[in-house]
Amino acid sequence: MTIMNIVLDKQGAPLYRQIADAITDKVQRHELMMGTKLPTHRALADALGVTVGTVTRAYAEAERRGIVEAKVGAGTYVSDSDKPHWTFASPERPGITSFGYNVPPAINRADLFSDALQQLASHPNELNNLMLYQPPSGIVRHREILSQWLAQHSVIADASRLLFCSGAQNAMQLCLLTLCRAGDTILADKFTYPGLMSLARQLQLTVKPVDMDDEGMLPDSLQAACQQYQPRMVYLTPTLQNPTTAIMSESRRKALINVCQTQQLVIVEDDVNGLLPRERPQPFVNLAPDDVIYIGGMAKTLAPGLRLGFLHLPERFYPQFVNALQNHSWMISPLLTAMAAILLENGGANQILETIRTEMEQRWALLQQYLGNADLRFHPNGFHGWLRLPDEWSLSEFLTACKAQGLEIKSSELFVPAGYSAPPCVRIAVSAPPNRETLENGCQQLAQLLANPPLSEFAM
Ligand SMILES: Cc1ncc(COP(=O)(O)O)c(C=O)c1O
Repeated sequence: MTIMNIVLDKQGAPLYRQIADAITDKVQRHELMMGTKLPTHRALADALGVTVGTVTRAYAEAERRGIVEAKVGAGTYVSDSDKPHWTFASPERPGITSFGYNVPPAINRADLFSDALQQLASHPNELNNLMLYQPPSGIVRHREILSQWLAQHSVIADASRLLFCSGAQNAMQLCLLTLCRAGDTILADKFTYPGLMSLARQLQLTVKPVDMDDEGMLPDSLQAACQQYQPRMVYLTPTLQNPTTAIMSESRRKALINVCQTQQLVIVEDDVNGLLPRERPQPFVNLAPDDVIYIGGMAKTLAPGLRLGFLHLPERFYPQFVNALQNHSWMISPLLTAMAAILLENGGANQILETIRTEMEQRWALLQQYLGNADLRFHPNGFHGWLRLPDEWSLSEFLTACKAQGLEIKSSELFVPAGYSAPPCVRIAVSAPPNRETLENGCQQLAQLLANPPLSEFAM
């Protein structure tokens, strides 16, 4: 079957569209099979009596619809109909091993999500409701399910104080927009999440670093910083700190809460990584729910593509935050919170979390085969590690050498506020390589680099 004899109506729709429609029709009727090569632009133009430009436009339209695909230098072919055309960019990038972003490992979630989607699809009335505007505070039942799920993971969250948002990043934005004004100061760990610093910069806020030790922020330093800067809030990631991986003891948590209560300072507890360890200390929100704004996310535990996070708020702040969310986007898509609710309730979310934990344990075991002697902090269920470079390597030389080898890692410089010095450390996200093979290659490269520092230069 060919497309050389398509009949065109010169008085009808634009010619390119008629050609694209005819191709689509033939593919859908299986008259043109997957992999069939289409005529060249010139040949089809001559056969149909149209310009080459019209055929080029028609093929581009068919490609946009996912019906055909152009292969550089080889021509245009009918696409594989099972291949979804709405996905893009394979995570694999030839020649690059990314230890860059703290993304969850690539695991198979398709079956569980497919079940959840089918469940939604089989309840048309509910689906119709989900297509309507909902109150900005979200659907109560979904918040209740979230609250019950959090309880299974040692987080005490009252459903009436929970608020869904578009990821933990959006939760942080709502905190800063609601509680701070341009010129205000926020306190954070000496090494902290760059997403906080970027947001603060945009909102003309200053982030001041507070000294920390191996388990996190030091209460005396927090007290001193409160007196020096009169901050609006203190931002903490007490469980699996980003970037140092520190996990704060309960006694340290209580000591910090004590300082904050005396200083009437709001604590923002960012717990995006908090559910990853199988065992974890009580979150701040359990210890002082009226003084803590708790931020959680589903990106690290369930799926980043859901783009869901949530806040648990002291009662007095709840209306302001609902208002901020309403200003931002009116509400979070009820379809997304419904999907999450199904998976939180039917055990799917726990299954995914468990798969992520196990995958990370195996990845760290693999990494240790190569970097067992390195000065590296990590938690076996965490995504990232904090690597202190051997004395022979300077930070800048190491970064340059990694780049030259196609190894993406994150410099400690990204985690300190501007103007403060960065230690000779890098963050490596062991969750990021798309598969074990790429991870293993990357580990080999890292181990070789660490063992072969540059020769020292002589100066006269
Ligand atoms: C400490 C911390 N907070 C917040 C976020 C943002 O998370 P989300 O993807 O849920 O917006 C990240 C992302 O890596 C993070 O590391």
